[in-house]
Amino acid sequence: ITVGVFFGGRSGEHEVSLLSAHSIISNLNPAKYRLIEVGITKDGKWLSGEGVLESFQKGKTAHLQPVAMFPQAGDHNLYRLNDSGYQPYAHLDVVFPVLHGTFGEDGTLQGFLELIGIAYVGAGVLASAVGMDKALFKTVLRSFDLPVLDYQLFTRRQVEENLAQVIQTIESTLPYPIFVKPANLGSSVGITKCRNRSDLGEGLNEAARYDRRIIVEQGLEKPREIEVSVLGNDQPVASLPGEVVPGEDFYTYSAKYLSDNSELLIPAPLSDGQTQEIQRIAVQTYKAIDCAGMARVDFLLDRQTERIYVSEVNTIPGFTRISMYPKLWEASGLPYGELLDRLIELAFE
Ligand code: DAL
Ligand code: MG
Repeated sequence: ITVGVFFGGRSGEHEVSLLSAHSIISNLNPAKYRLIEVGITKDGKWLSGEGVLESFQKGKTAHLQPVAMFPQAGDHNLYRLNDSGYQPYAHLDVVFPVLHGTFGEDGTLQGFLELIGIAYVGAGVLASAVGMDKALFKTVLRSFDLPVLDYQLFTRRQVEENLAQVIQTIESTLPYPIFVKPANLGSSVGITKCRNRSDLGEGLNEAARYDRRIIVEQGLEKPREIEVSVLGNDQPVASLPGEVVPGEDFYTYSAKYLSDNSELLIPAPLSDGQTQEIQRIAVQTYKAIDCAGMARVDFLLDRQTERIYVSEVNTIPGFTRISMYPKLWEASGLPYGELLDRLIELAFE
C-alpha cells in the first residue's frame, strides 16, 4: 500500500504537524507500506523529493520539487513538475493528512481528496469543518443535548467597528473569567483568558487578528482538562480518558509544544462512573458531527460542581510521541503501530 503522508501546511500549527508527521513516519510498518512524503509549505506549495520531512524541519527545501494532484475523479497520481511539465511521480493508494488546523484539518483538503475519489485517513468534509469551527461545533452539540459551556459569537468587523458594544453584550451575559478565541484555529493560537474588561478588549483584538469569527466562552476557574481518543467509523470506540495538568495557567500553545512542564495523567484519576460518562459523551460527540477514522474529544471538568463539558474535538489530533491521542490508545491496549494500521484500514471502509 502506498501512503501519501502530507504534513506542514498553511496553518498556525505547521510546526506541530512536522512533529506529528515525524512520529507517524517512524512508526508506519515499512513491511506494509511504501511512504511518499509530501510537505506543504506555509504558503501552500506542495513539495516532494528526497528527505522531505528532514528538509522541512531544517527549513532547507530548495532542492525539493513541486508536486500536485489534480481534482480529476479516479486519478490517484501525484505528479512532479519537471522541464516538460507535470509528470506522474507516484501512484497513491491512500492519503494520511497529518495537517493540523486550517487547510488540512478543516475539510478543505478533505473536499479536494473527495473530488479525486482517493481514500484518506480521518474525518470527511463535514465533520472536519464542524470540528474546526468552535462555534458551529457547540451549536451542533447543544442540539444533541451534549454539555457545552455558554458562548457568544462575534465577527471581526463587529470587534473593529464597535468594540464597546461587543464588550457590553458579553459582560451582560457572561461572568469572568471569559475565554476569547478565533473560531477556527487549533493549538490554543490566539486565545486569551480574560479576567476583566481590559483583558477582554485585548483578547478580542488578538483573536480578530487570526479569524473573521470570534467566539467568546464562559471560563471555569482552573478546570480539570480531560481528553478521550475515539477511533472508528460507524461503530466508534473510546479510549481510557487522560488528564492534562498544565504547567501554565491554561494549556497554551507554548505549554503544549514548546515547554515540557505539562504533565499527562493516563488514565485520568476519575471514578468509574465519571470515566464511563465521559467515554459515552465522547462517542456521542463523535457521532453528532459524523466523524470517521479518529478524533480526540477534549473536556473540561468543573472542580466545584464536578460537571463535565465538551470543549472541543480535534479530528487530526497531535500525534507526537508525547501526544495524548496515541498515548491513550497505548494505555487502552492498542500499540502505536497497530493504531496506524487500523486508521489506514478505516480509510478504505
Ligand atoms: N491541534 C493539536 C495538534 C491538538 O489539539 O492535538
Ligand atoms: Mg486542534
